Amino acid sequence: MIFATAELSPVATVGGLAAAAAGLGSELRRLGIDVDLVMPDYGGILLVDEVSFELDVPAWVGAAVVRRGRHVDVGPLTLISVPGVARPHPYLDADGAGWEDNSERFFRFGRAVAALVEREQPDLVHLNDWHTGTARAAFGPDAPPTVVSIHNLAYQGIADDSWLERIGPDGSHYEWWGETNPLSGALALADRIVAVSPHYADEIRTPAHGFGLDGPLRARRNALVGILNGIDTEVWNPATDPHLPATFTSTDLAGKATCRTALIERLGFDRDDTALATVVTRLTEQKGIDLLVPLIPLLDQIPMRLGILGSGDAVLAAQLHQLAADYPDSFAFVEGYDEALSHLMFAGADLFLMPSRFEPCGLTQMQAMRYGTPPVVTAVGGLVDTVPDVDRERGGLGFVADEVSSVDLLAAMFRAARRLRRTRDRTTLQKRIMAVDWSWTHPAEQYADMYRDLVAAAATES
Ligand code: ADP
Ligand code: GLC
Repeated sequence: MIFATAELSPVATVGGLAAAAAGLGSELRRLGIDVDLVMPDYGGILLVDEVSFELDVPAWVGAAVVRRGRHVDVGPLTLISVPGVARPHPYLDADGAGWEDNSERFFRFGRAVAALVEREQPDLVHLNDWHTGTARAAFGPDAPPTVVSIHNLAYQGIADDSWLERIGPDGSHYEWWGETNPLSGALALADRIVAVSPHYADEIRTPAHGFGLDGPLRARRNALVGILNGIDTEVWNPATDPHLPATFTSTDLAGKATCRTALIERLGFDRDDTALATVVTRLTEQKGIDLLVPLIPLLDQIPMRLGILGSGDAVLAAQLHQLAADYPDSFAFVEGYDEALSHLMFAGADLFLMPSRFEPCGLTQMQAMRYGTPPVVTAVGGLVDTVPDVDRERGGLGFVADEVSSVDLLAAMFRAARRLRRTRDRTTLQKRIMAVDWSWTHPAEQYADMYRDLVAAAATES
């Protein structure tokens, strides 16, 4: 099968799509499925035992060249180069704005993926998000069964209608209010649509969460399934993590206290028992970090301390720097994307905050729980599937704010801090969240079953 994605850890990482593609890809390979991981050749990616060939594409695409070989971390990897795709960042320029030609870059890539499909006739194709959506327009009458994953409906890559004729014979399906929508067409033509959590699969069929595509998704409800992502439990393993000053397990949490001390020092706080909460995030509307802003002056009332590691929106970052200067005893902000520090932020914290406005799946709450750090979350998307409230459900795993609002987040933070103060309750909860299996094993089996059904159905049809 061909699995096409714009991000793949650790080759090109922007958000959770990279981790999800890599985690699923490698677990499917472990299950014996022959997965051809295909991504744009952003430049500077080293392969060994490389072969190279050109794809047969229409003139508007320009030269489409495949490099295929082994990548040191990923294993077998297929890179496609088309004009304009190689950039220092997959989507953003140096100022953090999207490249102006993003739609065009990925439409070229999509057309090249379709040419690879035509050349290699895989038994199945799995496309991810809008970046790969237009590929399906050019599969032709013998299209293999196609799965389309929705990692984030907020991004749709819409372009003008001149593309409808170019992208392929099925281009008309991509017509969307007089424009070209790479996602709407892919959703119309897919044999199966996967949302990255069951709750998100329900939400996106409603106007409030459908980003305009709720209608088409309702129309395809029989093809739509929700499969929760996993995390890479070898990378995210407190018992072996090389980024930590001390390792730990659920039966011996001493190392977690050492990590906590190291994190407190890193964030410049006093060394005491005040609950320490962290956030690791992209700074963008979706993640709701602005909802925490009015709570920062109130932290010492809970009492709680908060450390945020994040990068993205420059205005929000400036605001957070200012708040860190104004409230140095209770708030710290580290701007940047720092993988090593992120491990310490999960391991050393008492609580992990995720005030998302929407969250298709979310990986960070699972990463936090793996390190014995209970999450405080909003009741959206995959957070609903992964974080039952400990005050409301037997076997609960965290603290849920009823509404996406500062007030309700504050209430959940108060509840969390109160429970943490009772040592026995805290340890019971820590052990419980560390015992959950967040690995890709079960999700990958669900994907494998779905692929098998689709391939079998295609075989009986032909
Ligand atoms: P999204 O994909 O919407 O950003 P996810 O929770 O699915 O959210 O995945 C985000 C991934 O990126 C997680 O693995 C998280 O640890 C990582 N990450 C996000 N922001 C940072 C950061 N500032 N520094 C280091 N890692 C980060
Ligand atoms: C997106 C979503 C996130 C999800 C990730 C991987 O980036 O924002 O919730 O976990 O994709 O599927």
